Amino acid sequence: MAKTVKDVDLKGKKIIMRVDFNVPMKDGKVQDDTRIKAALSTIDYILQQEPRSLVLMSHLGDPKKDVKKAKEKAEKDGKPFNEEEFINGKNRMKPVAEYLSSLLKKPVEFVPSCMGQSEKVASLPSGGILMLENTRFHEEETSKDKTKQKILAEELSKYGEVFVNDAFGTAHRSHASTAEIANFIPTSVAGFLMEKEIKYLQPVSTNPEKPMTAIIGGAKVSSKIGVLENLLKNASAIIIGGGMAYTFLKVQGFKIGKSLVEDDFLSVAEDLLENAKKRGVEIILPIDHICADNFSGDAKPVYIDEENIPDNMMGMDVGKKTLSLYKEKILNSKTIVWNGPMGVFEFEAFAKGTEETAYLVAEATAKGALSVVGGGDSVAAVNKFNLSSKMSHVSTGGGASLEFLEGKELPGIACLNK
Ligand code: 3PG
Ligand code: MG
Repeated sequence: MAKTVKDVDLKGKKIIMRVDFNVPMKDGKVQDDTRIKAALSTIDYILQQEPRSLVLMSHLGDPKKDVKKAKEKAEKDGKPFNEEEFINGKNRMKPVAEYLSSLLKKPVEFVPSCMGQSEKVASLPSGGILMLENTRFHEEETSKDKTKQKILAEELSKYGEVFVNDAFGTAHRSHASTAEIANFIPTSVAGFLMEKEIKYLQPVSTNPEKPMTAIIGGAKVSSKIGVLENLLKNASAIIIGGGMAYTFLKVQGFKIGKSLVEDDFLSVAEDLLENAKKRGVEIILPIDHICADNFSGDAKPVYIDEENIPDNMMGMDVGKKTLSLYKEKILNSKTIVWNGPMGVFEFEAFAKGTEETAYLVAEATAKGALSVVGGGDSVAAVNKFNLSSKMSHVSTGGGASLEFLEGKELPGIACLNK
């Protein structure tokens, strides 16, 4: 386990801390502050230790990529596009610094660049907080060329004698501010959020209390195959739902109509089913469906009481018989890990499978099971049904929690002192 802020002396020290304040923004306003609030306990603790100063850094979207995407969309829709206005609304860290200041009830100073701030840091009042501009305005941050990354990492390292990484959500990225910086600072430790994420995710991917049920959903097999393979090591059962389930049904010879399918992944799905059988891991696929004849929110839901889906229909959600299989498994589990929705829960008519699943996981948790929810969409689902407080842990990481569950070592964790 990585060392944490509690293992080192912070008094009188200059601290540089990586946070994941990559929060949704609209017109320069924070839309969801979960990730900001999640870093507060570490920030509060550091400030209580009376450091010389605390410099915070994060990315906030990716200005170059975000502009490209938005510009293309505006062109397609025939709408005008103002690049500066767009960036100000989405990628500038100043409003986030102000938001943090209001939460902390303390001044948070802001500088519009990550480079050349040594004098500014030195001039901070004792215990003063400074937030740097979005690290991704500097191409060095994400550069594939490590010599470039080192330029930014070395500059950032001048702002701290201790590097604290609390950015679990970005720990799967090997960037200047997430990992490379640790090569320039002898003391690199985890914050409390990072520690908590590891505490919950580690056992799930290594030695969970059994039986463990993994619930894996979402649109694509291709993005979940690594997780499925790793979970085969410890799970007693894997529930496969959502769009990816139809690829698994197809490879078993069922008709899937117009449902989502990845034909390139049929053999991968087949291998996985074969592997599961060898290891004695039960795979639970939908045995009935809620279908529609088109993919839209006002499509008419049609119940199909078997695995086979008619030619003119597509699967949109799991059916009630499938949910009773889930109930049996989930309520008898000691550990539950959930990544990805069971159906198109964004559409009211097709949300029931995901909603019921969320309630079942909450019920199992109340009975003493350990439940870990990771991945953007399943977290969004749990929040939508107001159940996040009923889970043992809801990860702040999407890609990061997925890679953790794949059994990979994350660069933002590997770089910390052991
Ligand atoms: C996220 O929201 O996924 C993290 O903040 C990482 O961001 P990224 O996917 O743009 O690297
Ligand atoms: Mg991401």
